[in-house]
Amino acid sequence: MANGSVRTRRDVWSLQQPWDPILEWYARGVTAMRARPIADPLSWRYQAAIHGYHTSLDPYRQPGESLPSASERQRLWNQCQHSSWFFLPWHRVYLGIWERILSDAIVQLGGPADWALPYWNYSDATNPNARSLPPAFVAAALPDGTPNPLRLEQRFRMGVEADGSVPLDDSDVSLDCLRDRVFTLDPNSGTTAFGGPSTLFSHGGGPAGSLEQTPHGNVHVAVGGFSGNDAGLMSRFETAGLDPVFWMHHANIDRLWDVWLGRAGSGGNPTSLDWLNATGARFRFRDHTGADKTYAPADVLDSKAEPFHYAYDTIADPLPVVVAGPGPGLESLATRESAMAELVGATKAPIPLSSPTTRVGIELARPSGPALESLTPPRVYLNLSNITAKRPTTRVRVYLGAHGEPREEDLAGTLPMFGVETASDAEAPHGGSGLSYVLDVTRIVERLKAEGRWNPERLDLSFVARDELGADVGLLVGSVSVHYE
Ligand code: C2O
Repeated sequence: MANGSVRTRRDVWSLQQPWDPILEWYARGVTAMRARPIADPLSWRYQAAIHGYHTSLDPYRQPGESLPSASERQRLWNQCQHSSWFFLPWHRVYLGIWERILSDAIVQLGGPADWALPYWNYSDATNPNARSLPPAFVAAALPDGTPNPLRLEQRFRMGVEADGSVPLDDSDVSLDCLRDRVFTLDPNSGTTAFGGPSTLFSHGGGPAGSLEQTPHGNVHVAVGGFSGNDAGLMSRFETAGLDPVFWMHHANIDRLWDVWLGRAGSGGNPTSLDWLNATGARFRFRDHTGADKTYAPADVLDSKAEPFHYAYDTIADPLPVVVAGPGPGLESLATRESAMAELVGATKAPIPLSSPTTRVGIELARPSGPALESLTPPRVYLNLSNITAKRPTTRVRVYLGAHGEPREEDLAGTLPMFGVETASDAEAPHGGSGLSYVLDVTRIVERLKAEGRWNPERLDLSFVARDELGADVGLLVGSVSVHYE
């Protein structure tokens, strides 16, 4: 690629279907990378292992094949950053290097120098196909009749329909996360934030940022699916990068970061040096030449500049502009890097989710802190912490109210179980504490109040499994707490 030129990452559904040259070269590049052995840092499997790897979950394991040395695996594999404020920048570096490796493979095959990873905008309300995989990810063969590496058979056994449609509904791909004004989540604040909690380099334990939860996690488990003890590649940290869909999913997540930054009212990226410089925790990779490199968020804030040189075809704000009326409005008004929301109620014991619907009631105390004096009604957050399971499992919908059939308008949010069994496993690289999510339910509470259906002394919730849970899953929500801000 000519020096200084910028690759344009395009909406995959805006390309010619099924075989726009971008998609055909994508497939041919994947085949070339897949032909390389796992010990080669430029191979398909090594690249996926950077995100996560476990021999017992490796579908391509060959008896007797050699892996990179134990010290290299320790240093460079199983690095994915979740439930962390490094979620976005770490995955940006991961994609940037991968895109260059794939692009180099395409050039070696005689393809264009400016190939760029397309993104999958499943939230595009103007596209009736938005939630389906494009035909290039469904077709059995390339135009020349060779097998299509963008199609994975197992996707169609567990998650995706034969025609490519993915079991996602509007709420699963909601972009409400863009309304959060603050990037950094104080893990003890009880509130939500766009980018994730301030953490060291690791994942697991604290709550996820709102983008990481929805749409990110929902898309993972909807594409991956699960069945018995088994799960599709996209459902687990250790296998997600083996699915070509992973990359165009994360290109969209990376794009949404730029969309959020461009929104009026967005609080911008963290300015803390602990984040910018990833103090003591620079991201370790081998670059497209195989050379050892380290990166920090400050190195990749401008995607058009060194080292990755790409931009998106659009980062226009997809949400309608909201004119704030009385009350808390639709946007979070606070600019609260460190404000604490007041705890007003919590469950007393872990909640096993063993039936399709589980109901719990939480006694609420009167707020005594700033939420009491505030002139505007408080914002209300549900904290769902330490969600654990022994096996891959479904998404769980959380509704306010516990009587009769849950109403769609009372849907507080969806808890994606992406990586749940690894996050629950104390022996795993970043595991032990399970998954934690925070849901902002202010708008629902305001409506219940308006309808005379709000009880200030008790909050009832219904957990509804999106699919059959499967036997012996052992899905448990460690605690639920309610916070006012
Ligand atoms: Cu590191 Cu979508 O995952």
